[in-house]
Amino acid sequence: MSKPLVGIVMGSAGDWDVMQHAARSLADFGVPYEARALSAHRTPDLLVEWVEGLVRQGVKCFIAGAGGAAHLAGVVAARTTLPVLAVPLPSKHLQGLDSLLSMVQMPKGIPVATFAIGDAGSANAGLFAVAVLALEDKALARKLDAFRQKQADAVRAAKLPELK
Ligand code: RP5
Repeated sequence: MSKPLVGIVMGSAGDWDVMQHAARSLADFGVPYEARALSAHRTPDLLVEWVEGLVRQGVKCFIAGAGGAAHLAGVVAARTTLPVLAVPLPSKHLQGLDSLLSMVQMPKGIPVATFAIGDAGSANAGLFAVAVLALEDKALARKLDAFRQKQADAVRAAKLPELK
């Protein structure tokens, strides 16, 4: 197994259902990642240990998904200057609006890049991580171009149903 280039962290194992889309984006481009469920409030020391360990191993960015009072991405960003991509997870009572606002309203000085709530945001965070890595990897940049081209071709080829 090659050493991870991206760290994916989520506040709870139950978040995997959404966060697997970020992992899928990376896997589709052959980008090695390490994924863990670690909580900013339940396991703060373990989270910091994991972040610092991956930084030492040479990861290029982190993706952090959390729900509710979602401070996970901010805590990761407090421990590294690498890019941190935040995925707001749908929550039980506020459908992820709480997660989105918690992440997107980071105070000045410690930025996190916040994506859409849920599956699309998770998949896009993975694609954005690929774009970050593609800055220094021409083969990956070509794969990303081909991926975009395939999406455009699918739109061009789309046929709408006939009126009944
Ligand atoms: C956050 O609280 C997690 O990211 C999760 O989305 C939410 C609920 O977690 P559980 O109480 O279900 O483990 O920390």
